[in-house]
Formats: sequence, C-alpha cells, structure tokens
Amino acid sequence: MTQGSFPAVRMRRGRSSPWMRAMLAEHRLHPSDLIWPLFICDGRSCEEPIGALPGVSRWSVDRLAAQARLAADAGIPCLALFPNTPNELRTDDGREALNPDNLMCRAIKAIKDAVPEIGVLTDVALDPYTSHGHDGIVDAKGYVLNDETTEVLVGQALVQAEAGTDIVAPSDMMDGRVAAIRSALEQGGHINTAIMAYAAKYASAFYGPFREAVGSLGRLKGDKKTYQMDSANRDEALREVALDLAEGADMVMVKPGLPYLDIVAAVAREFRVPTFAYQVSGEYAMIEHAAAAGAGERDALILETLLAFKRAGAAGVLTYHALDAARLING
Ligand code: PBG
Repeated sequence: MTQGSFPAVRMRRGRSSPWMRAMLAEHRLHPSDLIWPLFICDGRSCEEPIGALPGVSRWSVDRLAAQARLAADAGIPCLALFPNTPNELRTDDGREALNPDNLMCRAIKAIKDAVPEIGVLTDVALDPYTSHGHDGIVDAKGYVLNDETTEVLVGQALVQAEAGTDIVAPSDMMDGRVAAIRSALEQGGHINTAIMAYAAKYASAFYGPFREAVGSLGRLKGDKKTYQMDSANRDEALREVALDLAEGADMVMVKPGLPYLDIVAAVAREFRVPTFAYQVSGEYAMIEHAAAAGAGERDALILETLLAFKRAGAAGVLTYHALDAARLING
C-alpha cells in the first residue's frame, strides 16, 4: 500500500478539518433519537430533587406540562413517565396501578392536554405500586407469579391507554404479557396504542437511583433475578426479542444501555425492527459523578455515550440526559 516511502491511503485526510469530519460522519445524534424519562410526584406545585440522580427531579402533575413543553421545543419526540406513588397507596397486589385516576393517568392527561404534539410512553409494571417493590404479585415465598401478574398488567395497560398514552412499555419481564396486552388493547378499541417491549431487560446493579426515584428502593425484598435476565446471557436476549415481536411488540428495548451495547447491536442487526436502548439511572449517575470529579467533560461524555447507541444500530435512546443532549445538539 505504499508508494515510495509514503502511504497511498492516509486515513487522517478524512479527519483533517471539521467540515470534512462532518461530511464523513457515519452516524449522527438528533433530538428525535431521544426519549426523556420523567418522574411524577403527588401534591401541588412541587419539584422534588432526587438525591441519587443529581439534576433530576420529580414533578407534580400541575408542573409536568411545562417540562413537556421544554422537551417538545427542543425536538424531543416522546416522554417516558414514572410515578412515585404515595406510600399509603402501595399494597401487596399493587392495585393502585388499576386506578384510572392514579398519578400516572393524571400525568398522561395533563401532558396530552397541554402538549398534544409530544408522545407519551408509560411503564407497565407494578413496582411503583407494590409494598414489596417487586414488579408483580408475589407468593408466600416471595416468588413473582407470572400469570397472575400478567392479568394485572393487562388492566394497567388498559387504564393507561384509556387515559391517552401513546405507547405502553411493559418492563416487568413476565412471559406472555405482550400478547395479553396486545389482545386486550385490540378488544378495547385501542388499535393505535403501540407497545414498546422491554424485551431484553437484565437484572442489573445500574437501577439503584431509579428505585430511589420511584420510592421502591428501601422496600425491595431480595432481587429481581427470577424474572429479569442474567447478565451472562446473549442468545437468550435474542429469544426474548423474538418472542415479544411474535406476540405483537411494535418496538423492542434493551436495558441497561452501555454495558449491554453488544446486545443492542445484536438485536438491531438480527431483527431489523425499531430497537431502543435505555441508558439507565446508574449510567446517568456514573456520568454525572465522573464529570463532577473532573474525570471527563460532562457535555462530551453525554454526547459520546449517546452517539454510541446510534452506532450500535439503535433507533433511539431513553436517557435522563435527553433535554441537555437535545439542547447541545441544537446549539
Ligand atoms: C421497573 C423499572 C425499572 C427501571 C425502569 N422500569 C427498575 C427495575 O426494574 O428495578 C429502571 C430504569 C433506570 O434505572 O433508569 N419495572
């Protein structure tokens, strides 16, 4: 490959100026790639900062629309909502999830009324509603019961659809729940309510700050390893995705994000369906703490990690950095 003593191909020519790098960039991050998770608290006109997630707050329903407006103005297409259910409403069976006037449903309506152009994605799982912090109904031994839980999840998805959510996102990892939810949505006339399945969700140490945010941290007995995936497994993730697609999922998600980028890439390549990654709370906290400690420049860390998901083949990313990232991209 050399002519005389010089290389005929100099890869660095393509990196020699900003315009050249811009022209040759294979992937780009755009605000429309971002889904912004928001936490909701009870009460009026409150903002509750979340200690474990520096820079992230819970917002009361009356202040949520203003956040949605900021997101829409920055070009973010969709929000993901998570309620911090008041303690007195948490029960063993998580029945508050079925209350059509619960925090989640009120939040959906408030956003749809005030900012109808932004999409709303809602989590389907019982952990913000149960006294034990598990995603489903537990038996006497603490085992999460699959089919009994699925029945409640179907009801939960229906009240969210009735409140006007655009996408239901089952994050519970019960078997068969996507089919059950799809069929109930069809029968209920919600034919355009989409399903984003948390298809490959791993039992991860990166969810800690989220559990504080939704108030399930101190409650959780044991771990979630009998339903969330073992981080040792890759082929199993492909089986999970195949099942959720066969059951009617419109889009799939891999979670967490960066530590599972190999899974994001494998799913995107294998199935050619809209594949999302969730850059979870522990990843957010890692970036914030690293930047605060001077280990890296915050804005650059945010944009580099988010672009990595696009490079891996993701259609988009759920990230607590969405608003900051969108504003950085917009300049
Ligand atoms: C609950 C749920 C979790 C997350 C999203 N939905 C936590 C868990 O499974 O324990 C984690 C998100 C994050 O850490 O940012 N079903």
